[in-house]
Amino acid sequence: MVEETVPAGLDTTTAHPARRYNYWLGGKDHFPADRASGDMIESVHPTVRLSARENRAFLQRSVRFLAEEARIDQFLDIGTGLPTADNTHEVAQRRVPQARVVYVDNDPMVGVHARALLTSTPEGRTRYLEEDLRDPAAILADPQLKETLDLDRPVALVLIAVLHFIEDHTEARDVVRELMAALPSGSYLAASNFTLDYATPAQAAVAREMIAQGRSDAHPRTRAEFAEFFTGLGLIGPGIVPVSEWLPEVPAHQRPSAEQIAIYGAVGRKP
Ligand SMILES: C[S@@+](CC[C@H](N)C(=O)[O-])C[C@H]1O[C@@H](n2cnc3c(N)ncnc32)[C@H](O)[C@@H]1O
Repeated sequence: MVEETVPAGLDTTTAHPARRYNYWLGGKDHFPADRASGDMIESVHPTVRLSARENRAFLQRSVRFLAEEARIDQFLDIGTGLPTADNTHEVAQRRVPQARVVYVDNDPMVGVHARALLTSTPEGRTRYLEEDLRDPAAILADPQLKETLDLDRPVALVLIAVLHFIEDHTEARDVVRELMAALPSGSYLAASNFTLDYATPAQAAVAREMIAQGRSDAHPRTRAEFAEFFTGLGLIGPGIVPVSEWLPEVPAHQRPSAEQIAIYGAVGRKP
């Protein structure tokens, strides 16, 4: 993106997760601060671009599973990110044209792009809400959400690569609980979160130092912490695994290692 096209009121001087992720994915919607932050994190975690691509592929495989196998036709995707290829509604509506998707993000730049690009099939519907994951009550009370999703029928809650931006684990866990409590039996949670479980002690120390200094904003969760998001849900397929291992489509020898990926993913069903 060239500087002249910056929407009014947008802060381009600090790195934002959506734009940095877009940079790692090879997109064009990022600014110098996002690239500097992305490069700095890449200097510590050299496979971060691969990790971002694998996370995105997990989003697509999990949404495809939810639409195709679980017959879910309603999605609440919080932490949407900047639109790129095969966004949630495109993957879902390819299988279920009438699928409805409510996207939520707290980054105004995501809002500008999402409202323009995340458009539905005629049979389905998409809506974009500018809300914060840390305020689930506001998300659930939003009239646009209620107009779009029928909360008496199963919904897939998609929290992919967004929970790690909530630093406090108890808060993150309570947010997931509150959202899942509002959804009926047969609903699903698809989530992923950065982890240091596969890092060496030296790599973990550097990563924690970066977080402490405010140079990284993604908060790692251990496997046990990540599992808490799925308490009371029935895990699908392989359970909690590095995202590249969740219902993979390529043979094991072609898949990256857990160390390279460093993101846990899972999908669970509410009984
Ligand atoms: C790394 S991107 C992930 C995009 C997409 N879910 C994916 O996995 O491909 C994280 C997104 O979460 C959004 N985000 C971060 N904290 C958030 C919060 N508290 N509430 C809503 N969105 C948030 C960022 O703006 C960004 O768009």
